[in-house]
Amino acid sequence: MTEGLGQLTDGVCGLDDFTHSHVYNVWPGYDYVGWNNESFPSGYVEIMFEFDRTRNFTTMKVHCNNMFSQHVKAFRQVVCYFRSESDWEASPLSFSPVVDEKNPSARFVTVNLANHMASAIKCQFYFADAWMLFSEITFQSDTAMYNTTLAPPKTGLPPNIQPEDDPTHKIDDSNTRILIGCLVAIIFILVAIIVIILWRQVWQKMLEKASRRMLDDELTASLSIQSETFAYNHNQSSTTSEQESNSTYERIFPLGPDYQEPSRLICKLPEFSQSSEEPASTSTAASKSTIATIVQDGAPHYAEADIVNLQGVTGGNTYAIPALAMDLLSGKDVAVEEFPRKLLTFKEKLGEGQFGEVHLCEADGMQEFMNKEFLFDIPEDVPVLVAVKMLRSDANKNARNDFLKEIKIMSRLKDPNIIRLLAVCIYSDPLCMITEYMENGDLNQFLSRHEPEGQLALLSNAPTVSFSNLCYMATQIASGMKYLSSLNFVHRDLATRNCLVGKKYTIKIADFGMSRNLYSGDYYRIQGRAVLPIRWMSWESILLGKFTTASDVWAFGVTLWEILNFCKEQPYSQLTDEQVIENTGEFFRDQKRQIYLPQPVLCPDSLYKIMLSCWRRNTKERPSFQEIHQALLEIQP
Ligand code: ADE
Repeated sequence: MTEGLGQLTDGVCGLDDFTHSHVYNVWPGYDYVGWNNESFPSGYVEIMFEFDRTRNFTTMKVHCNNMFSQHVKAFRQVVCYFRSESDWEASPLSFSPVVDEKNPSARFVTVNLANHMASAIKCQFYFADAWMLFSEITFQSDTAMYNTTLAPPKTGLPPNIQPEDDPTHKIDDSNTRILIGCLVAIIFILVAIIVIILWRQVWQKMLEKASRRMLDDELTASLSIQSETFAYNHNQSSTTSEQESNSTYERIFPLGPDYQEPSRLICKLPEFSQSSEEPASTSTAASKSTIATIVQDGAPHYAEADIVNLQGVTGGNTYAIPALAMDLLSGKDVAVEEFPRKLLTFKEKLGEGQFGEVHLCEADGMQEFMNKEFLFDIPEDVPVLVAVKMLRSDANKNARNDFLKEIKIMSRLKDPNIIRLLAVCIYSDPLCMITEYMENGDLNQFLSRHEPEGQLALLSNAPTVSFSNLCYMATQIASGMKYLSSLNFVHRDLATRNCLVGKKYTIKIADFGMSRNLYSGDYYRIQGRAVLPIRWMSWESILLGKFTTASDVWAFGVTLWEILNFCKEQPYSQLTDEQVIENTGEFFRDQKRQIYLPQPVLCPDSLYKIMLSCWRRNTKERPSFQEIHQALLEIQP
């Protein structure tokens, strides 16, 4: 008898000859538990059975050996005491089977327990001979046969007694049926709940997919048509606001030539129709009344129709200006002078793009061409270092026209935080733009090779930039953008890679276009043509193709994030381009599932608040550059 299992409960009845067993290769008498009369002076063996609860006992069956030739006999008497609750019944039950000295076969002796209610039964089995061998003991109670727990204090019997498989004692079916019925009902309800939950999830996913597909279709349509527009511009070159307006929004949003509307599909989405975003008065801004609309709004933005795309020398850089401003430009001469090409001395190549190269050059006598505010720190008669953007000599007519247009626009941008066009060489090929040279290169590379002030920088001996200087640079970018937005220019590609660093942390905004190899990872190529800086773009620029000052504000927030991370990480670096576009969908849906760029370690709450305000879904809730500039001035230590 080991580990709680016992011969008395194993369901196997011993053979007539106890020296043999059903079980192979065990010792003689294996099937039985036996007691010797000499060990029990009282003449009986007492076994106590404890049950899980009070039961109504009908019978007890004891399987006994009766091999009298070996001095083994079934018990001659059993006296049973019953305990219900905590008290033992006063009068025990006694039963005396006939002592059989004729038939040596093992047998079940059935004891009628007369429906005694008990939770424990104590039985005294009296010897009829020198030995008493039992192989099974089972109890039958009125409801069913249960496994019971036994406490055999005197005999050391195993704790479990198994029910006997006896067809004469019926299981009480009704209770079992109720139990099974309940279980089946519970299982049924659980399965139904699971099915409903799964179905709802699948349905929601399908809906989401459908709405995403609608957006994707929209996006694809928008962007492919936009790319057609780029191509169109290259081929036709003459990019009037009328032509632009016919090219993009009208084809996507066929509501008439003057309207810029979110697509009908997107309008159908409940989030869009509920949103306070773009009431008809602003989103349907007529191109001719753009400026009036801007004034009413307080948040300058205008239709795609009013944006002029220019192909920059190092790629597809795009300054966007309102049609009205373009009209002003078109009639006038370029406000910048021709510079004698021979006075330029090539020093080194600063950059290269699809449409040309940028060289560092010495310019003799440039002082004459420069405005007074530039001259105070440049000695006379010393060659001035300049950056010369040069159009490839084999560039086609469109590229030439766009280059000239960029000159026109740049020549009118005069702000300390916008890269200044000093002079041009356009009388002969190759066409050149001469801009001021910023000795520390672009802000992205500048910050990448610097570290924040602190222990780490001290240990690594790396050059550092103080928090105060980071703020100073961010403030200058905000100031430059404030200037651009005051002219209703939309930059479309504000990022640290498009800002140049001069002496003493001075910053000037430029636009190098998208084809510099170094930053190709920052641009997402759609259908092999349109190339977009999606990680810097607002949701409405990506999904609706809408570029406004408000989307420049969004990009400013990302630029600020880059600065506070020392440009050590690309925005949303853990997301693929496709996931970034999906996240844009979440910004559009605004169901709190959009992922925001995290607060950089160095970034105080006040600065992160500015970033978050730049990424507000509603364009009108985003701050103006005027407000951002002011807030940064106040934060700057
Ligand atoms: N790379 C391109 N343009 C530049 C400029 N103006 N100054 C410094 N590096 C440049």
